[in-house]
Amino acid sequence: MGVVQIVFQAIVLLGSINTFVQAVDLAKPSCQANFGKIGIPYPFGVGADCFYDDWFAISCNDTFNPPKPFLRRFNLEVLEISLEGTVRVNYPTFSSCSNSITKTTEIVNLTKSPFVFSQSKNSFIAIGCNIFASMKSLDGSVIAGCMFGCGKNSTEIAGSSCIGIINCCLTPIPPYIGLFNANIEPKNISSPNFNDQACNYAVLLERKFFNSNLRYPIKSEVHVPVVLEWGIDETFYSRMMGSEWSECGKHLTSK
Ligand SMILES: *[C@@H]1O[C@H](CO)[C@@H](O)[C@H](O)[C@H]1NC(C)=O
Ligand SMILES: *[C@@H]1O[C@H](CO)[C@@H](O)[C@H](O)[C@H]1NC(C)=O
Ligand SMILES: *[C@@H]1O[C@H](CO)[C@@H](O)[C@H](O)[C@H]1NC(C)=O
Ligand SMILES: *[C@@H]1O[C@H](CO)[C@@H](O)[C@H](O)[C@H]1NC(C)=O
Repeated sequence: MGVVQIVFQAIVLLGSINTFVQAVDLAKPSCQANFGKIGIPYPFGVGADCFYDDWFAISCNDTFNPPKPFLRRFNLEVLEISLEGTVRVNYPTFSSCSNSITKTTEIVNLTKSPFVFSQSKNSFIAIGCNIFASMKSLDGSVIAGCMFGCGKNSTEIAGSSCIGIINCCLTPIPPYIGLFNANIEPKNISSPNFNDQACNYAVLLERKFFNSNLRYPIKSEVHVPVVLEWGIDETFYSRMMGSEWSECGKHLTSK
């Protein structure tokens, strides 16, 4: 029993050392390597000379305890960075609790940045009653959307319905989206089941999170994980390989 416990502790310790070493390896030398469990691998970085370019700058928000990392240009909280080209961020949900007006979100603008909203990892979900909930590009064309009636059998759901939540629909988004508005528009406010007290939601979120964690009703102040894909131009690798810390470069290109 005593031996088993020691072995177990040794394994736990080894595990945590490995995690630590890995995180240290992947940041630029003398740059902050992590925020708690969140590793900050290059090209991301905290502080001058630690990131590849301004898009990958991570700011440290110490109004939180412990402090949280943010993508500085977009002011989005970082939940996880993967060198396979994704970053999970905490993204605000969008809701409207009045069924008689059209409401539109504020915009996170990824245009001309190295980031796009991941098509393969995110879905657009809408929950509501007598609404048309959509993601639109700024010229007004619909990227993804769901139309709802009201009541148990809403017949006009456009996407697939969400298991277990009434009047909920889930639709895929197209690839390479960098900019959208979420909109909630009233559809037919004279319908008999109209309930002005209900809140409607139009939310982009990580599909994996939706499948396992989303609880309805969604609280309006809640943020949900959204996955961005990131990329860098070809000069990145040559610059990395020529640099004084080519160990990191090897790590990146060995994938
Ligand atoms: C830190 O986060 C708080 C709460 O979200 C926000 O109000 C504040 O502007 C952030 N500060 C920085 C420096 O990003
Ligand atoms: C989004 O960013 C691009 C590139 O910086 C800019 O040209 C465009 O005007 C921005 N659009 C909005 C709506 O902010
Ligand atoms: C809903 O639809 C199902 C199958 O289409 C039907 O059997 C059921 O009676 C409907 N319920 C209501 C309340 O309309
Ligand atoms: C709106 O709802 C009313 C009451 O259910 C119905 O009679 C009418 O046809 C609906 N209008 C539209 C445009 O769907």
